[in-house]
Amino acid sequence: MIKILFVCLGNICRSPMAEFVLRDMVRERGIADKFHIESAATSTEEIGNPVHYGTRQKLLERGISKEEISFKTARQMRREDYNKFDYLIGMDEMNARNMMRIVRSDSENKVHLLLDYTDRPGAIADPWYTGNFEHTYRDVCEGCEGFLRELEKSGKLQQ
Ligand code: 4NP
Repeated sequence: MIKILFVCLGNICRSPMAEFVLRDMVRERGIADKFHIESAATSTEEIGNPVHYGTRQKLLERGISKEEISFKTARQMRREDYNKFDYLIGMDEMNARNMMRIVRSDSENKVHLLLDYTDRPGAIADPWYTGNFEHTYRDVCEGCEGFLRELEKSGKLQQ
């Protein structure tokens, strides 16, 4: 089982988008049983709140059901998550810094940024500021595809 925690500031826009998109991708490829995927926030701002309307629209357009999305509410990342997950994947540098503050040390090299799995490392477009969820969606899809490619290349999907 490959355990992945996507992380952003509020856990209502970017990281839930990545959670549902990656879950959908592995479902389409018939490898969903190899994965456990969640998402969490670094801040307390949105704890308990549902997925943001803009993210929800993109997920609905992709064919993900309203019911599935409705189960997700924002939660804060905890230090114990470091042991529970194999990959803790942030959306931007600020997320990575905040994640390090929570986990204190990354001795097993589990903390990454989503676009590091593409040929254009950097930040996932933040819709909180841009209002453009389509741009975020394209970044998230590219990052998730790259992440799966990396798992394939490293033989982790064969285990
Ligand atoms: P997210 O978006 O980190 O992608 O979920 C944000 C959500 C809330 C805030 C900022 C970004 N906020 O400042 O409360």
